[in-house]
Amino acid sequence: MRFKGKVALIAGAGSSAPGWSNGMAVSVALAREGAQIAALDSNHDNLQPTLSAVAEAGAECIPLVADVTQSTSLKNAVDATVARFGRIDILFNNVGLQALGGPEEISEDTWDRLMSANVKSVMLACKHVLPVMRSQRSGVIVNNSSLAAISFLYPSIAYSSSKGAVDAFTRNLAVQVAPDGIRVVAVRPGLMATPRITQRLKQKFGDDFHQALADRHRIVPMGRMGDAWDVAHAVAFLASDDARYITATELIIDGGLSASVIGQPWSGERNL
Ligand SMILES: NC(=O)c1ccc[n+]([C@@H]2O[C@H](COP(=O)([O-])OP(=O)(O)OC[C@H]3O[C@@H](n4cnc5c(N)ncnc54)[C@H](O)[C@@H]3O)[C@@H](O)[C@H]2O)c1
Repeated sequence: MRFKGKVALIAGAGSSAPGWSNGMAVSVALAREGAQIAALDSNHDNLQPTLSAVAEAGAECIPLVADVTQSTSLKNAVDATVARFGRIDILFNNVGLQALGGPEEISEDTWDRLMSANVKSVMLACKHVLPVMRSQRSGVIVNNSSLAAISFLYPSIAYSSSKGAVDAFTRNLAVQVAPDGIRVVAVRPGLMATPRITQRLKQKFGDDFHQALADRHRIVPMGRMGDAWDVAHAVAFLASDDARYITATELIIDGGLSASVIGQPWSGERNL
């Protein structure tokens, strides 16, 4: 029960397709260990499975329908969280949109939309939550970055750039607020089989979906894509006092993918 008496605000707590998204799994992981949850999402329907799962975990939860790209909307959500629970100990910035393509393919609008949803949102959430954490002289902010910030996974110039900005934001803010007892960290998930991704693969590959999924599993040294629980356990660790001396850094959650240029070692290689 590492989070007993603690309050977590999860931005992007819903799931954009049926199943365990990162925001849903993190909400439940923290709830199971005693946290009270403020579950924020712009989409009312996406949020409902998270509310049910957190209730099943026996935790108190408030739903907040808000848009993280809008300052007033976020401020209202933060105020509602403090009005209900009196504090905010953990902020998980999880909203992140994806768009494929390079500079020649994506539109200026797409670039602006991703930068707003993936980067500006983190700044706005911190702008409104930090005064609360400063007054407590404690708090942890965990930003959901991506391996795409540092490695090529597929052509996604806006997404990769936005996640690189999230990493830079994380380090700069962490140093600013360290004297106030606030930690700021990021997670960098690699190839994850979350519902949003598997739905996209189904749409793209149709009957070849299982092969496409198997191909992705195979290129990971551990032999499988990760899932939302791999992210949730890492976020719970970083948000807990077990990580009390960890700040201004990113934790890679990728089954070894970023360390390998060949995927899994081929058979017999260990005998060379
Ligand atoms: N799934 C992966 O493979 C993977 C890998 C690396 C990083 N990530 C990161 O994990 C995060 C979540 O991914 P997921 O696949 O679990 O997402 P998801 O799409 O299932 O859930 C994200 C939620 O954010 C909400 N949202 C979108 N725009 C919003 C806004 N403006 N305001 C408030 N809420 C908004 C959506 O309604 C949705 O419920 C993203 O930041 C993503 O970049 C995912």
